[in-house]
Amino acid sequence: MASFKFSIHLLTFLCFSLIAGSTANPRRSFELGVYSIKNGLIDACNSGNYQIINIVFTVSLGNAQTPEINVIDYCTSTGVDGCTKFSQEIKSCQALGIKIMLSIGGGVGKYNLNNFTEATNFSTYLWNNFLGGQSNSRPLNDVVFDGVDITNERSSWDNWSKLGEELRKLYEKQRKKFYLSAAPQCSSLDSSSHSIPQPGIFDYISVQFFGNNLVCQYLNGRLEGFWKFWNSWKMFNADKVFVKLLAGPMAEDMGYIRPDVFRTEVLPELQQSSKFGGVILWSEDLDRGYSSEINPKACGSVEAASESANEVAEFPMGNNYAGQRGFRSCRGSCVL
Ligand SMILES: *[C@@H]1O[C@H](CO)[C@@H](O)[C@H](O)[C@H]1NC(C)=O
Ligand SMILES: *[C@@H]1O[C@H](CO)[C@@H](O)[C@H](O)[C@H]1NC(C)=O
Ligand SMILES: *[C@@H]1O[C@H](CO)[C@@H](O)[C@H](O)[C@H]1NC(C)=O
Repeated sequence: MASFKFSIHLLTFLCFSLIAGSTANPRRSFELGVYSIKNGLIDACNSGNYQIINIVFTVSLGNAQTPEINVIDYCTSTGVDGCTKFSQEIKSCQALGIKIMLSIGGGVGKYNLNNFTEATNFSTYLWNNFLGGQSNSRPLNDVVFDGVDITNERSSWDNWSKLGEELRKLYEKQRKKFYLSAAPQCSSLDSSSHSIPQPGIFDYISVQFFGNNLVCQYLNGRLEGFWKFWNSWKMFNADKVFVKLLAGPMAEDMGYIRPDVFRTEVLPELQQSSKFGGVILWSEDLDRGYSSEINPKACGSVEAASESANEVAEFPMGNNYAGQRGFRSCRGSCVL
């Protein structure tokens, strides 16, 4: 119990001590998302750390009546138990208010969109099988995803933007809000307009600031490139711009920003922009406490703090935070 109390104090102290220093510019709330689930969707949702979960899929279409889906490292629709359990888990997470996005593209999968016709056809397929449409071969039955994330690591966005545009048309006829996001590489701003998503289509973009993006990622402790590119990306025509970051160290020079550095040197500055939507982490498997340390509930908004001693505030306890899971509430006096 002692360590649990301590961790709340520590978490709020770290974040609110920053707020105290910047009262002129209140810190904006933001969302935290993650890609790819390896260790259990329910655990990820119950950790309270994520507001968005991007499930990475490959879909094999073809002549087979039932398309095969493969949720990387998690389930395949044709596997022993299929993805039945997964469908239930998705619904439980959505019941907690977490957006579950279908993420397609990326470095995996063998499909490409060869032309606009194919993009349009694929939008119908996704709509009917995973979103608001109907089909008698829905791989996850009645699961309705909250939207689609398009991660494109190939050179041209044109046909992927077309896919987005067609999905947008299908979304617009609905009463339920469906989301559309695109995940470009931070360095692609340097090239042509074909190398970035088409502006004005996506609800949000998640700009990848790691990997092979030396001009714009955190490099040798320096943030110059990061800020230069953030300042351009934040002007992108989308409702919100997220930063997509590594949740754990990979090889050197991959752009990993330690959570303490992110929280103290980067996040407060990002929060100055009304376009900042949040952070999307790659990936759940690498996330050994990163999301707990930068969690929006504690670091995000002044409203998350209960300043009066009687008000109860909820603080997320990440699955790696002092061994506690889920949300815990505490009274205002616990805010330093
Ligand atoms: C689009 O690409 C597919 C697959 O390569 C091809 O079968 C189809 O004929 C193409 N359609 C057009 C209109 O080019
Ligand atoms: C996208 O579609 C256009 C035509 O609709 C085609 O010319 C182009 O090659 C396609 N791009 C890719 C990367 O397949
Ligand atoms: C269109 O999508 C269906 C699946 O919905 C697929 O079976 C078919 O091959 C696709 N056709 C083209 C031209 O891409």
